[in-house]
Amino acid sequence: MNNDLQADRPDIITTEIEAIRFYRKMDTEATVKEMIAGKYVIVEEFYSNGLQVLNELRKNLLLKHKDKSFQGQRDYRTAFRKASHRLLLKVEQHKITLKKSPSIGWLELLYPDVSDFYVSFPEVQGMNSSWQWYEKGLEIKTLNLTLRPYYGAYFPTRFDHLKLFDKWLKKYDGDKTHAIDVGVGSGILSFQLIQNGFENIFSTDSNKNAVIGVAQESKRLGYEDKITVNHGDLFENCDIKADVIVFNPPWLLAKHTLEEGIDKAMYYEEDLFDRFFEQAQNHLTAKGKIVLIFSNLAEVVDKESTHPIIEELRNHNRFRKELHLKREVRASSRRTKRRDSRENEKVELWVLSPKITK
Ligand SMILES: C[S@@+](CC[C@H](N)C(=O)[O-])C[C@H]1O[C@@H](n2cnc3c(N)ncnc32)[C@H](O)[C@@H]1O
Repeated sequence: MNNDLQADRPDIITTEIEAIRFYRKMDTEATVKEMIAGKYVIVEEFYSNGLQVLNELRKNLLLKHKDKSFQGQRDYRTAFRKASHRLLLKVEQHKITLKKSPSIGWLELLYPDVSDFYVSFPEVQGMNSSWQWYEKGLEIKTLNLTLRPYYGAYFPTRFDHLKLFDKWLKKYDGDKTHAIDVGVGSGILSFQLIQNGFENIFSTDSNKNAVIGVAQESKRLGYEDKITVNHGDLFENCDIKADVIVFNPPWLLAKHTLEEGIDKAMYYEEDLFDRFFEQAQNHLTAKGKIVLIFSNLAEVVDKESTHPIIEELRNHNRFRKELHLKREVRASSRRTKRRDSRENEKVELWVLSPKITK
């Protein structure tokens, strides 16, 4: 990994700013109106004072955004996002100065170069939730290990795809010299490949934080010698041919302009799959296989959606289908019976082999 890689982190303000200072006994409604009008507000005394302001902001904006249509709700979220980021917290010596604040290690790890600054309350909430996952770890039974997901990197909360991949890996009897994991995320599939005997994994992602996190985790788990971690788009900087290329791509076609980070783990741009398959041809051995993890989520949400793997097989002469496995997605909690649109969701594993290798 390139050691100069700087993690993406929330924007901060390091200069003194003109702002309203918010104390518990103040008029919350009036403060929120100032915030909506464009003024910065700094939370004072207690951390919970910030929650109070955000609740009031939500109430105020919902009164103005009564339209429940998709566009109406999107407008509400945009307005909330804009105004709520004007609510700031002071950080001193990498710690939040307010009483009863959570302690968040990211304030030190992500900002080694600056110790005192202002940062927005919603960003602090995001860092707090991420820090709790990082501290507690994500237990992955299929791999018999606990992962520590890095700030801003995608990690799964359901594991049906790992079970499908495990099933395939246990039956796979081809070469295990080289594998490429495109979109490595928190490293799960790379670690699974190693546990199943693969010798060298090229693990890559376009999200810098994912790459930094996987480099750290490989070291912690003792897999460092087997993994090369890379930051780049698809196969950028990759000069090997692999026995297996694995890709668990985003599952939904984006209808908005994508932001860096988690957004690109969930949504894909129109040309992603065509670029992936075009480049994958150059990175497979003659007997190599592409393993894709996918889902029918797009179809469940929108019947008109197209399936990028089926489209590839139908429209190009690059790969042939070897296998297509499906598995129902289990509800996150066994006690809650799913009634939402994800009820019929299935996770899929596709294995493709090249018709011609380049
Ligand atoms: C659904 S997540 C899968 C993460 C992990 N492999 C797993 O199975 O949990 C998709 C990953 O692909 C990455 N990604 C999206 N577009 C990419 C691209 N063009 N090049 C490299 N990685 C990309 C995202 O940043 C994200 O980490």
